[in-house]
Amino acid sequence: MNQQIIYLGCDDKDLQLFESQYMLEEGMCYNSYLLRGEKLAVMDAMDARCKDEWLGKVREALNGSQPDYIIVQHMEPDHSGSLGAFLAAYPDVTVVASQKALAMMPQFAIAPAHMVAVKEGDSLDLGGLTLRFFMAPMVHWPEVMMTYCEEAKTLFSADAFGKFGIYHADEDDWACEARRYYFNIVGKYGGPVSMVLKKMASLSISAICPLHGPVLEGEKLAEALRLYGIWSAYGVETKGVLVAHASIHGNTAHAAEVLGEILRAKGAGRVEVVDLCREDMAETIEDAFRMDKMVVCASSYDNNVFPPMHQFLWKLQQKAYQSRRVAIVENGSWAPSAGREMKALLSTMRDVTIVEPMVTIRSTMTEANRTELEALADALLQD
Ligand SMILES: Cc1cc2nc3c(=O)[nH]c(=O)nc-3n(C[C@H](O)[C@H](O)[C@H](O)COP(=O)(O)O)c2cc1C
Ligand SMILES: [Fe+2]
Ligand SMILES: [Fe+2]
Repeated sequence: MNQQIIYLGCDDKDLQLFESQYMLEEGMCYNSYLLRGEKLAVMDAMDARCKDEWLGKVREALNGSQPDYIIVQHMEPDHSGSLGAFLAAYPDVTVVASQKALAMMPQFAIAPAHMVAVKEGDSLDLGGLTLRFFMAPMVHWPEVMMTYCEEAKTLFSADAFGKFGIYHADEDDWACEARRYYFNIVGKYGGPVSMVLKKMASLSISAICPLHGPVLEGEKLAEALRLYGIWSAYGVETKGVLVAHASIHGNTAHAAEVLGEILRAKGAGRVEVVDLCREDMAETIEDAFRMDKMVVCASSYDNNVFPPMHQFLWKLQQKAYQSRRVAIVENGSWAPSAGREMKALLSTMRDVTIVEPMVTIRSTMTEANRTELEALADALLQD
């Protein structure tokens, strides 16, 4: 990274659930930077959980100087949680943010004494470092902006290009936790992400500094840009099938495993069979977006569908799952209802093709069901 940019981020090693719902295997990091031109600007504050550590790093990096600016790209508390404490420590600092971010500050009990609202294309001269601001609404809140430093050819990308994990977690595999982060947190906003990527295409970028996860440079940067192009367009990253099941007593799960074997034998590409009742739902959401095909298999439940499947499909609907081929397997002991309900949820999604005929199992799988699963696999793989 350019020597005028100092990293001030903190690792939150003990955090187990990000945004109270995403399981973390290796904590989380919140990034912050000091930009040292003739003037000094801090780029983004920090989650309140790391407030003292961050303020210590800021103090050390400032080395007795006062900061001129704090740039606030995103008001979500994982970044603004320590902003009030920073403003109390440096009352003369000027807050630089979008108009929408400034308007949101009172809601978080933040009242800056000095502030500047910036809009699309505005720049800020730090003396030796020039910053340009790009509005990035809905990536991932409406007030978000990104910042490009011309001399350092560095893009500060807010939550975009972020990932789960502390800074040095899975250093050789950025994509795994970046994908789970993207589809669960930003995935609904593919359109706005595409718009921002288009704006960025005209910039010469040698580093991306996101608000979570490592700074991206070189090959890692090129790969991240390639994947964001696919992800934001709801494109297919990996040819294959996600077989997701929600089974009360295990019979539907068994059928899903059998279907997985059938698909593998037919050369369906990557085949993942996932238990929605026991495995990380966020990981399964990621798999659904990653591949081009999906089979949903569920037990009937009180004239509806077993709740873990309902939750999964509802989440996919919320995250704008689209442009995929989906097959359905239902199970019921007296009046199967799961298929009807799964179809109803899937039919609300854009450009989702339901592959017929749905397979109905009555309690336990029969030989006839096995033949139907073979036929369903053939139909699904025809594109
Ligand atoms: C609480 C509960 C509600 C159920 N509701 C229905 C139902 O409305 N219609 C139906 O055909 N079967 C219903 N069933 C039966 C299950 O759907 C059926 O036994 C199951 O699909 C078998 O597959 P599994 O072993 O994968 O759970 C219900 C079972 C339970 C435990
Ligand atoms: Fe955010
Ligand atoms: Fe964030």
